[in-house]
Amino acid sequence: MNLYKNRLCCHFSLVKVFLINPNRLSCRRRSVLSFLLHPIGFCDIFSTSLSIDSIRAKTMRILAIETSCDDTGAAVILNGRKILSNVVSSQVPIHQKYGGVVPELASRRHIEMIVPIVTEALGTAKVTLREIDGIAVTQGPGLIGSLLVGLSFAKSLSFATGLPLVGVNHIEAHLSAIFLEKVTPKFPFIGLVVSGGHTSLFRVDGFGKFRRLGQTRDDAAGEAFDKVAKLLGLGYPGGPIIDELSKRGNPKAIRFPRPSLGKNSFDFSFSGIKTAVVNYVKSHPEALGTHPEELIRDIVSSFQEAVVEVLVKKTIEAAQHERLKRVVLSGGVAANRLLRERVKEQASECKIAVYIPLPSFCTDNAAMVGVAGYEYLKRGIRAPLSLNAFSNMPL
Ligand code: KG4
Ligand code: ZN
Repeated sequence: MNLYKNRLCCHFSLVKVFLINPNRLSCRRRSVLSFLLHPIGFCDIFSTSLSIDSIRAKTMRILAIETSCDDTGAAVILNGRKILSNVVSSQVPIHQKYGGVVPELASRRHIEMIVPIVTEALGTAKVTLREIDGIAVTQGPGLIGSLLVGLSFAKSLSFATGLPLVGVNHIEAHLSAIFLEKVTPKFPFIGLVVSGGHTSLFRVDGFGKFRRLGQTRDDAAGEAFDKVAKLLGLGYPGGPIIDELSKRGNPKAIRFPRPSLGKNSFDFSFSGIKTAVVNYVKSHPEALGTHPEELIRDIVSSFQEAVVEVLVKKTIEAAQHERLKRVVLSGGVAANRLLRERVKEQASECKIAVYIPLPSFCTDNAAMVGVAGYEYLKRGIRAPLSLNAFSNMPL
């Protein structure tokens, strides 16, 4: 990993030297780098001097970068709310044949995609780097090799341009995605982050003000979706596939467990539900046979029903426990059709308002990183260039 990290630093430090002082490079190296960087418009920044005074101005454009797992994302966000661009390059075709994310392949693909994706984000937003006021980048948690690509790139760019930099926690970014919507919640609220890597409930009192009420003790909900889909040979990522297949299945066909982990516990456990599916398939081998469609639809529909029931129950109980009337869902699993319907139905019975971002803002994207990053940059919070990435980074 150190070797990998060094190589990455080397790569971006060449860019750095060039951006800061192209005269320090020989004519030949300079023209080669100019040629390489020209398509992304970075040479342009030498034509005028950069000013970060606009940071104090009324409008702030943040360039946000997200590479925590298998999506390379870049976005330009105006005043922390308006999306000028939001580009995501998915790696699903690369990882699909392995049934899950292969970390080494993920980081290599980020290296290939980071420059084109940032270029596209700037181009779509119709801005150059001169019109950007700050850079926000996902710092963790996530796959370390993936995180390092975005972080090293953002640091190099910050160093070269003088733009202020801030590191953003990926979980906070998910919770912030709701502020990209027209209707936004007031603080405080209960936030459920439910994705491939996390399943946690928070009391959220403001940006940077979180209290974790519970979290999964084993698998994340999205991980359980992915593993069940893999077991049944349905493909990757499992969540959207199971969501779709479940539409035509019977959710009451099989009663899978709903672990509650005791009264007043806001922790989750999904490995038991997953194991129950494994055991069910072992005792019904025809599920993996030649004509398994109907049985498979019933299995995934019953599995989804169990997961959604637990997520909704705990989220509403957390709101009641904290005496709050607002809940926010976020993370890839919050794109799930049944979860979205069910939480709205049950919350309205308790007069609790539900806020869920559009499905494209639930899954990994850089726009949500821009929302959280803006909140810190506008308060003058800056990350040093020694900023590091962390695979484990609790909120
Ligand atoms: O937030 P995300 O894009 O990445 C992480 O931070 O993990 O979440 C990805 C996870 C995957 O496990 C995927 O299967 C799940 O979200 N997912 C879904 C749906 N769409 C994505 N799970 C259930 N239903 C969906 N419609
Ligand atoms: Zn995520």
